[in-house]
Amino acid sequence: MSERGLALLGGLTPARFLAEYWQKKPLLVRQALPGFRSPLSPDELAGLACEDGVEARLILERDGARPWQLEHGPFPEARFASLPESHWTLLVQRVNQWLPEVAALLDHFAFLPDWRLDDVMVSYAADQGSVGPHTDQYDVFLIQGLGRRRWQIDATIGDDAPLLEHPDLRILREFSPTDEWILEPGDMLYLPPGLAHCGVALGDDCMTYSVGFRAPAYRELVTAWVDDVIALLPDTLRFADPDRTPATHPGALSAADRQRIREIIRQTFMHDDAIDHWFGRYITTPAGEAAETAMTVERLVDALRGGLPVRRSEMVRLAFLEEDERFRFYFNGEEIPVPEPLRPLAIHLADGRRIDGSLLPLLDSPAAQDWIAPLLQDGLLEFDDAPAD
Ligand code: SIN
Ligand code: CO
Repeated sequence: MSERGLALLGGLTPARFLAEYWQKKPLLVRQALPGFRSPLSPDELAGLACEDGVEARLILERDGARPWQLEHGPFPEARFASLPESHWTLLVQRVNQWLPEVAALLDHFAFLPDWRLDDVMVSYAADQGSVGPHTDQYDVFLIQGLGRRRWQIDATIGDDAPLLEHPDLRILREFSPTDEWILEPGDMLYLPPGLAHCGVALGDDCMTYSVGFRAPAYRELVTAWVDDVIALLPDTLRFADPDRTPATHPGALSAADRQRIREIIRQTFMHDDAIDHWFGRYITTPAGEAAETAMTVERLVDALRGGLPVRRSEMVRLAFLEEDERFRFYFNGEEIPVPEPLRPLAIHLADGRRIDGSLLPLLDSPAAQDWIAPLLQDGLLEFDDAPAD
């Protein structure tokens, strides 16, 4: 990663941003993405919210059956004709999976590891629309795409702040802004996890793009790890004590028995390599199913030779780990063996969302082509119709 400052970060280098702001304090960047205008129109976002398989929510602060009414999509088109004039927000999750123009935003965040990335959520708000003051568990970069939004934060609010009584939403009961900014298209506000915030649309047609990062809860990680270990443990492995000596206290849990139990737990659960291997599979498990694709090696090579941009599908997840002689490559929750000469190809694919002619030399052998063919069939890459910037 270069040590040049990034316009996205207001001229800070990624290293400085990470050291001073990431997970610590907010950063406002005026014109982080100069010229950025919502690649989606409000109508297109509403259209997406009507489609099956798209996770969409409507939040109505007023005019609902209760304050801050939450409705889940997919919505019938008619729903959008019956909305009030103001005070409502439409939120659509994972828009990067549906639109390459939105996925293109993620190219700017390559200074953060891919596995930490969650999605790009896009919101549309009518005048005064807001989802209420709240805290999120995640780091988020809020990029204004259309119209204006006033963001306020309350740096005095902690994790245990009182919430409104609401069956679904965690809205803060009290919120006294300690800072505020009005964002225009191209401006960006980074917020660390746990910082109370509230964004209100100023005027109609306010669209905000939230690039969100995931931070798995310990509970989620440990549960997934234990489930994995259990699935791999053969029933034949059992407590054994062929070296037992006579018990002095039949009621006691002896030191030797406790030691054996500790060993079983440690040996089963504490191997670094096994943990890494589980994590690679776990963290690359995709959220949705990749679309069928007609991409073949021939079509890919032709496209790249012709200068057509290709993009890694947002529906797949991949990662590699490399340490000493160890190299492992994970694709959609599975380990894919990589012969040593093909490691640069695997790394290239895992590192870059945007694929161009620099992939061609790496595909220049029958072994490479045979290796990538099944991944292409599983929807690894797609032709990109997003404008390059
Ligand atoms: C929004 O885009 O309206 C809400 C984003 C957030 O506060 O997390
Ligand atoms: Co938020």
